[in-house]
Amino acid sequence: MNAKKKHSLSVFFNKEYRSIVRGEGMYLWDDQGKRYIDASGGPIMSNLGHGMEEMAETLYNQVKKIEYVFRMDFTSPEMEAACTGICEATGGDMERVFLVSGGSEATETCIKLARKFQIDAGRPSKFKIISRWMSYHGMTGGAMNLSGFPFRRKDYAPYISNNFHIPPAYCYRCWFNQKPDTCHLECANALETEILCQGPESVAAFMVEPISGMSLCGAAPRKDYFKRIREICDRYEVLLVMDEVLTGFGRSGKFFAYEHFDTPPDIMALGKGLGGGYFPVGAAVMNTRVYETIANASGLFMSGHTWAGNPMAAAVICKTLSYLEEHQLIARSAKMGEYLARKLEGLRSHPTVGDIRGEGLMRGIEFVKDKETREPLPPETMFWMILHELAQENGLVIDSSSGCDRGQAGDQMMFGPPFIITEAQIDEVMEIFEKVLTQAEKQIGF
Ligand SMILES: Cc1ncc(COP(=O)(O)O)c(C=O)c1O
Repeated sequence: MNAKKKHSLSVFFNKEYRSIVRGEGMYLWDDQGKRYIDASGGPIMSNLGHGMEEMAETLYNQVKKIEYVFRMDFTSPEMEAACTGICEATGGDMERVFLVSGGSEATETCIKLARKFQIDAGRPSKFKIISRWMSYHGMTGGAMNLSGFPFRRKDYAPYISNNFHIPPAYCYRCWFNQKPDTCHLECANALETEILCQGPESVAAFMVEPISGMSLCGAAPRKDYFKRIREICDRYEVLLVMDEVLTGFGRSGKFFAYEHFDTPPDIMALGKGLGGGYFPVGAAVMNTRVYETIANASGLFMSGHTWAGNPMAAAVICKTLSYLEEHQLIARSAKMGEYLARKLEGLRSHPTVGDIRGEGLMRGIEFVKDKETREPLPPETMFWMILHELAQENGLVIDSSSGCDRGQAGDQMMFGPPFIITEAQIDEVMEIFEKVLTQAEKQIGF
């Protein structure tokens, strides 16, 4: 076998990817012995840090007990404990959990649940799902259909036809040209307009990220946005579905990001941090109304993939829940997030730093060519990629993306480190990042 020849593929076919051989806490090491500080937990995923001995034991012990049972045949103590733990974490807002194997599967399952709820509630004409532009709900067909992230959708546009998108809650580039003192929550009222134009009798649900993930890197709506959204949803018997795949399980400094707005959804998608970064798992979580409506009518939800609800994933959820609690990691996400936010303010003097936003340990930066006019950087500079590459060269892992200005331009990045990060490690991240940013700005002529 030719050891040099590679057969693996990732997103960029012609890129040489560095090979990671070990991880511990906040750090990763490649096969050349180079160390990286992980300031994004991969794609804002590893909430607990790398190489956890206790998680290795959890997985090992679970394999020895039982590695797999099919959810259509059996339940398991681990699945029961995991689902109870998730519902308890919502403080009673949620009633039942349908486990799946990842974030995209979770958002699609939420949509199927919303449809099933409407059928069983005696409203079978309701099937349309409205979501928002500049959102991301996953890469599978149905999830991409919901996503309003042009860069990730455009190659597959011919296959995704049922798009009903409203403008995002994106104050830095308000699509209604409002300022905080003139805003009437036009972005929330747009939901009512869309429902009316589609015909309320046809709309089943509104799907939304409570705080934007990589499509708008931490953009959060005004505090009363979701109260207005809830009123509109209830007026037209439209379910409120929140995608908490990225925000859920402590990322925003609260257990669930909906708590920032005091507005629980009817159905919620979970993924990423649900498994602490140790196992592919996701969930569609529903409130009592949704659960009882289906339970008391058809009692059937024909959905789910082979791996859904497997005891390995469930055991990892249980361990994640107990670890978060024991180490008070959600309070830590809030506290370290504030420290990180204060440090980020120091970057405002950089010529490209346009906006700094986010909550907890999801903190984004949007880069611009002109701070005054907010004109984005020319997209062909690929600033988001330059940053990502230079960061890696300098031993720092960050997540970045492009297209926040209506898909045409707009470079941004997000810090989303594991919650175990210390102040000293935030300082380390900032020291490297400041150097990287200066280098990247020079490279594009600043
Ligand atoms: C908000 C949100 N929803 C859904 C997904 C899709 O999750 P997955 O990549 O696990 O399928 C992601 C992934 O980045 C996400 O950030």
